[in-house]
Amino acid sequence: TALTILMIILAYLGGSLSSAVLVSRTSGLPDPRDHGSHNPGATNVLRLGGRGAALLVLLLDMLKGTAPVYLSWFLGIKPVYLGFIGVAACLGHMYPLFFHFRGGKGVATALGTMLPIGLDMGAMVIVSWLLVALLSGYSSLASIVTVLLAPLFAYLLKPEYTLPVSLLSCLILIRHHENIARLLKGEEPRLWRRRGQDR
Ligand code: G3P
Repeated sequence: TALTILMIILAYLGGSLSSAVLVSRTSGLPDPRDHGSHNPGATNVLRLGGRGAALLVLLLDMLKGTAPVYLSWFLGIKPVYLGFIGVAACLGHMYPLFFHFRGGKGVATALGTMLPIGLDMGAMVIVSWLLVALLSGYSSLASIVTVLLAPLFAYLLKPEYTLPVSLLSCLILIRHHENIARLLKGEEPRLWRRRGQDR
């Protein structure tokens, strides 16, 4: 229907607002697109020196997913479409209209879309990300493992969302191709230094 199409467009446009670029600009941090991993996301803002800024980016990027999906649910849009409104928000984040289509990897925004769909789904994704991040020290590996598991979580907990979740997982995985290459070469920087070991 017209309302669903409108929400898909709004979700894409909202997703196109790059929190990492805007927050870094206002807090005097370097442009995350030109430094570190060159990714406009919370991990890279943290890497470039802003703990508070990184947290803000994480929350704003999640909100870009949560807000359109929650609003659409509130407006009575059917579950089959909610998943694709979530995908549209993530596509906005990855290929932003307002930032020359140079966007992020979609992890925080995808998580944001899952919270209104089911807190159980959101919790599984958060626990899996935190577990891998804490054990390995790699933000990217945590994201990669989590998106590989997410379709299974969806199938078990919210089967009606298995298709859009799998679609998101594929997109996010593709966006991590450089991280995958660095991980395989042992060149991926960790979130923190390990004792007696440099990054
Ligand atoms: O969410 C992005 C994260 O998985 C990797 O970020 O900056 O290390 O490429 P980055």
